[in-house]
Amino acid sequence: MQTNVECLSYLNYVNGQWQAASSGQMIDIHNPANKDEIIGRIQASNLEDLDHAVAIAKKALPTWRNLSSVERGNFLHRTADILEKNADEIAEIATKEMGKILRETKGEVLRGVAILRYYAQEGMRQIGEVLPSSQKQNILLTKRVPVGVVGVISPWNFPIAIPIWKIAPALIYGNTVVFKPASETGISAAKIVQAFDEAGLPKGVLNLVNGKGSIIGQGLADHKDVNAISFTGSNQVGKQVAVSAVKHGAKYQLEMGGKNPVIIMDDADIEHAAELTVQGAMKQTGQRCTATSRAYVHCSVYERVKELVVKKANSLKVGNGVDPTVDLGPLASEQQMNTVMNYIKKGKEDGASLLCGGEALKGEQYQSGYFVPPTVFENVTHDMTIVREEIFGPVLGLIKVNSFEEALEMANDTIYGLSASIFTKDIARAFKFIDEIETGLVQINGETGGAEPQAPFGGMKDSSSQSREQGQAAKEFYTTMKTITITPIP
Ligand code: SIN
Repeated sequence: MQTNVECLSYLNYVNGQWQAASSGQMIDIHNPANKDEIIGRIQASNLEDLDHAVAIAKKALPTWRNLSSVERGNFLHRTADILEKNADEIAEIATKEMGKILRETKGEVLRGVAILRYYAQEGMRQIGEVLPSSQKQNILLTKRVPVGVVGVISPWNFPIAIPIWKIAPALIYGNTVVFKPASETGISAAKIVQAFDEAGLPKGVLNLVNGKGSIIGQGLADHKDVNAISFTGSNQVGKQVAVSAVKHGAKYQLEMGGKNPVIIMDDADIEHAAELTVQGAMKQTGQRCTATSRAYVHCSVYERVKELVVKKANSLKVGNGVDPTVDLGPLASEQQMNTVMNYIKKGKEDGASLLCGGEALKGEQYQSGYFVPPTVFENVTHDMTIVREEIFGPVLGLIKVNSFEEALEMANDTIYGLSASIFTKDIARAFKFIDEIETGLVQINGETGGAEPQAPFGGMKDSSSQSREQGQAAKEFYTTMKTITITPIP
């Protein structure tokens, strides 16, 4: 079990054992819907703890990589079953840790289950190819092998799905893992690891080290015995991780921010477009890398879209995520709330007009949490900070455009390139959008958010390191390749 004498203290997991950090220090986890409630404590580990975990992962590597990938897959299948069985409990913990509503956290646990099952099956798929050799008698082939010890640094906004979409492919291809989750969601992380533990994963194969990002995250990126590092988080930290990884020759994979646009054209199904624009912007209180934050709307349908967007945004109920009638939970932390409120203030100062929201919610039911309602701006110009920087909150800007070309140019005028959507029935325009939008994820008449386990996920420009996660694309990152020539001796 992961609990200490105090039932709310969650331990690190190293070498198959739950253990306290050597510092004796802990980090409190507060409920963002009720900041006075401490829902648990996690370990504030130091570099000594990290070093130990990396050494253990390195030691466990030869045995794990020598199992067949089909056998490794069986552990993932069992973990998926355990997670599914515990879905309600884990969803509730995640909701209390980072605020999003139970429907979303339950969906996320089940998404984690689907990812585990997908990668469990991956153990039965190809790991190389046979190529024609210029020497007729030779056999020329490739074989994928594990990279080694993988460091996983995961964010708080998807505390279950994102760690699993990194850990599951790392394990199936024969790597061992040291996992450093965001401190805000260290308990959800412990629950994931507990499922692997119950599934009988051999000791040392997956290790959890909680602690501050500046110490454990940075230490993992710097560690000479970490061969690959997969990071999801902010742009600024991601770039530091890359620099550290390069210094010691580790592979790195970064998924960072987004500033995701939708284009709503004059021929769109306006009701559908407004619905998915609001969902894309407000789901999970806007705390998704793929959240919609800019809507470029054709002038001939602008007023109708505006009316529908505001009506739908205003109809969303904000409150504690454990209440099943609530649509939007709180922001994940005080820091997150301050950031979002500062962006809203900046939007107002820069001259954008508020259509709804814009003030932190007050009143008895909101006073102990970080509640910001759906906020929609208009009269937004393309140079405003709220259009240029990632907000990571329930904030949407509406921008009137005269043509598809104008919308496309503005949609692409950003440092980010994660996801984008167009609402149109014109196939030629949709194809032009597919070709010319500078994002890794492209939606035609769909929401900017969302991902499926079997499909590559990632962005262009500053949204990622150009690598892709999930689906078959994960194989590129979590393996390295051998080219083998077999020369028969007559
Ligand atoms: C993310 O947006 O941060 C993850 C992908 C998603 O489900 O939208």
